[in-house]
Amino acid sequence: PMEEDNPGHVKYQLSKLLKVSLDTVAPELNLEPLVTICPAKFPGDYQCNNAMSAWKLIKGTRPEFRSPNAVGQAIKDNVPASEMIESCTVAGAGFVNIFLSSKWVAQSIQKMLTKGIKIWAPKLQVTTAVVDFSSPNIAKEMHVGHLRSTIIGDTLARMLEFSNVKVLRRNHVGDWGTQFGMLIEYLFDEFPNWEDLGEQAIGDLQAFYKSSKQRFDDDPVFKERAQKAVVLLQGGEDKYRKAWTKICEISRREFNQVYQRLAVDLEEKGESFYNPYISEVLASLSNQGLIEDSEGARVIFIEGKNIPLIVVKSDGGFNYASTDLSALWYRLNEEKADWIIYVTDVGQSLHFDMFFSAAKRAGWLPAGENLYPKTSHVGFGLVLGDDGKRFRTRSSEVVRLVDLLDEAKTRSKAALVERGKATEWTAEELEQTAEAVGYGAVKYADLKNNRLTNYTFNFDQMLSDKGNTAVYLLYAHARICSIIRKSGKDIEELKKTGIIVLDHADERVLGLHLLQFAEIVEDACTNLLPNTLCEYLYNLSENFTRFYTNCQVVGSAEETSRLLLSEATAVVMRKCFFLLGITPVYKI
Ligand code: ARG
Repeated sequence: PMEEDNPGHVKYQLSKLLKVSLDTVAPELNLEPLVTICPAKFPGDYQCNNAMSAWKLIKGTRPEFRSPNAVGQAIKDNVPASEMIESCTVAGAGFVNIFLSSKWVAQSIQKMLTKGIKIWAPKLQVTTAVVDFSSPNIAKEMHVGHLRSTIIGDTLARMLEFSNVKVLRRNHVGDWGTQFGMLIEYLFDEFPNWEDLGEQAIGDLQAFYKSSKQRFDDDPVFKERAQKAVVLLQGGEDKYRKAWTKICEISRREFNQVYQRLAVDLEEKGESFYNPYISEVLASLSNQGLIEDSEGARVIFIEGKNIPLIVVKSDGGFNYASTDLSALWYRLNEEKADWIIYVTDVGQSLHFDMFFSAAKRAGWLPAGENLYPKTSHVGFGLVLGDDGKRFRTRSSEVVRLVDLLDEAKTRSKAALVERGKATEWTAEELEQTAEAVGYGAVKYADLKNNRLTNYTFNFDQMLSDKGNTAVYLLYAHARICSIIRKSGKDIEELKKTGIIVLDHADERVLGLHLLQFAEIVEDACTNLLPNTLCEYLYNLSENFTRFYTNCQVVGSAEETSRLLLSEATAVVMRKCFFLLGITPVYKI
C-alpha cells in the first residue's frame, strides 16, 4: 500500500478535504483552504475561514450566495465524507467548525506508537538549510549572547533535521581580522617558545586578549608591529600563519568544551574560510555595477537606507560584510542551500538587513518575500541579571559559559542529594541526572521566551520544580514512565494488541493535543520560534496532569487504552526534549 502522505498533520489533511469542497463550491476562484485550530469562542476542533473572502469575490456573479453564511453552508455540504471528520457546523459569517472523529484521533496516535514519531515529521519546502549559529570570536570572550545563539541555533537545526531537511550546522567563528596582528605579536613577545607550547600553557585566552590590547593601546612601537603582522598574516607568511593557527586552536579547545557539555554539534567554517572568495565575489558585484566609491571606501548603496554597506574599507581591507557576502555566495552556489538562517543578537539586525538587500540587488535572492532561496536573521534579546542590567558576574566581568554550566549542575545535584538520591542512586545516575536537569534548565529558560525579548537569568527560577521549567517537565515525563513501569504491563505488547479509546473529555483533549505536534513543529520552523514548541510541551504536560487526575489508569476498565495514551504522551514529550536539546530522565 502507498505510504500515507503527512499522516499526523491534521491541518494538512483537513486542507486536502476542504480544497475539494472549495473547488466544488467555487471552482472559478481556485481558493487555498484557510484552516486553523478552532478559536475558543466557537465550538469545534478546527475551523475553515474561507467563506467571507470567497463571498466578497463571487457575490456579483453568484446571486445564490446571499451571504457569507450561505457560502459557509455550501463549503460544509461539499466536504467529502472522511473518517477523520465527525461533523461540521456553520456559525456567524460562514465559519465552518469542524469536529474531528475521536476514533480517527485515537487511530492516528496508535499509528504513531507503532510506526514511530517520525511519521509525524512535518514537510517543509526546503531541501538544504544552513544554520549559522554560536559563532564566537577567537580569543574574545564567549559570552551569554553566544550561549543564546548556540541554544537557539541548535534547536532550530534539530527541528529542521526532524523535518527531513538537510542541515549544515555552521560555526562562523570570528577567526580573521585585524585583532590577530596584536595577538600574534604578543604571543611572540611573551612566549618566545610558542611553537612548542602545549595548548594549555598560554592559559586564559581572554586575559591574553586583554593584555595584548593593553600593550597595543599603550605602546606605539608594538602597535606598528601588530599592524604589520596583519599584513604578513594575510599575505600568508609562514611564521604568522602558524602563530594564527596556534591561537585559533586554543580558542577552539575552549569552545568545544562548551559544545560538548551542551551536546551541540557544529562544523567550524570561520571567517577565514571565505577569505579566498572575497575578491572574486566583489569583482562580480562590481561588474554588475553595484559597488561604488564613497569617501575612499568601496560600498553598496541600499534603497531606503541612508548609509551604504561598506565592503572594502578605505585602507583596502575586507570586513565583516565582505566576508558575509562571500559566505552567502558560497552557501548558495557551492552548498546549494535554499534557506540560510543566521542566529545572532538583534543588535546585528541592520547588518543582516543590509547585506540581504545587497544580495537581492545582485539577483542572488528573489526579490519578493518568503521566496526560496531565502535568508533569515534570527535575532534575540539580551540576557539580564537580577538587577535588570546586562548579565555580569559580581565583579562585573563577562560571565564565563563553563562556570555557568558548572553552577547549574552543582545546584541541581545539591537538590537531588537533598532529596536523598545520593544513597538511592548510583554515583553515575546522580551525575547524569544532575547534568540533564542542570543543562536542560539553562536551555529551557532561554528557549521558552520569545527570542526577541530580553530575559532574566535566575538559577532559582530555572531550577524550580514548579511552573514552566525544564525541571518540572523532566519530572512530569519521568512520572509518566514510572506509571507505565509500575503497571507491570508490557507496553510493547500493548502497542500491538491494545486499542486507544478517547471517551472521557480529558482523554480527548490530551489526544487532540498530541496530534497537533506536527503542526506545532512546522510553525516553530517556519516562524523560527522555538518558544512555540516549549509552550506546546508545557500544555501537553498540563493536559496529561488533568487526564491523570480525572481518569484512573492502572486497575481501571480502560487501563490498556490509558496506558497507551500515557505512553504516547511520553513519546511526544521525549521528542520535544530532543528537539530542544534536553536529555530526558527516567527516574526522579
Ligand atoms: N562572530 C559574530 C559575533 O560574535 C557572529 C557571527 C554571525 N554569523 C555571521 N555570518 N555573521 O557577533
